[in-house]
Amino acid sequence: MLNNITRDLADHDLRGQVADYIPQLAQVSPQHFGISVATPEGALYSAGDVSQPFSIQSISKVFALTLALGKRGDGIWEYVGREPSGDPFNSIVQLEHESGKPRNPFINAGALAVVDAIMMGHEPKEVLAEILSFIRFLSDDASIYFDHEVAASELEHKHRNASLAHFMKSFGKLQHDVDKILGTYSHQCALAMNCEQLARAGLFLVSDGINQVSGSRVVSAQRARRINSLMMMCGHYDGSGEFAYRVGLPGKSGVGGGILAIAPGKGSIAVWSPGLDTVGNSLLGTKALEMFTQNTGWSVF
Ligand code: DON
Repeated sequence: MLNNITRDLADHDLRGQVADYIPQLAQVSPQHFGISVATPEGALYSAGDVSQPFSIQSISKVFALTLALGKRGDGIWEYVGREPSGDPFNSIVQLEHESGKPRNPFINAGALAVVDAIMMGHEPKEVLAEILSFIRFLSDDASIYFDHEVAASELEHKHRNASLAHFMKSFGKLQHDVDKILGTYSHQCALAMNCEQLARAGLFLVSDGINQVSGSRVVSAQRARRINSLMMMCGHYDGSGEFAYRVGLPGKSGVGGGILAIAPGKGSIAVWSPGLDTVGNSLLGTKALEMFTQNTGWSVF
């Protein structure tokens, strides 16, 4: 079935626009397409460009939130809310009326607050080492790396995120140095992974917090359900309602064109197609997931 989806989408002319506000991402061909499905039984089904690493960007916010919950527990909700924003991923408007507290951990402002919560007085290098070893543990793959060129490219054009961070800092909402938070955040977003690695990294959210393949408990069952609920409500920003309507799964997108979707009890699905729709989510990636859930009945509804 994955081969059929890949073949059907190969001829699609309408692939959306590759993100160009991070110049390094603009160099990626929109022709790529890959899809991988990992199951708790240890099967991995793949079609298309599934071995080529891509920039996971905002998908990393799921893993950063998981780490932050481990360190801070429910204290994280003092830093960031858990409501959908209905605004673009890099919007500043709500911060002014809501005392600098971001609506949720997946918009950029919220992800910056999560990084601040993870840092706990440590230097960016140490925090990044922890993020990297966590993601390697989740996907059981030590070859995952930070693409430093992508991080540098984002940092050169960091004005919007820097504005968000300084604005939050002005409300006393960030504890650490803004440049250190931005540097850490940009590297976290510049994690390079392929579809197979990403599908495996999502397995703990499929099985109540346990990665059944490695046998490791990552989070409690309750926490896994809550992370999934946040992905469902906020994982696609102002496109979250549309994604829930069409795909019916918790999902998280990134401007590198990846999407991680979780079918609780069934499997973890990673897709990659770099062209984005108007709100910054992978256009063909969403289409592929819509076809996939229609064929498998794997929607949560
Ligand atoms: O901060 C940014 O703008 C990027 N590093 C991440 C944004 C992103 O992936 C939004 N997702 N669709």
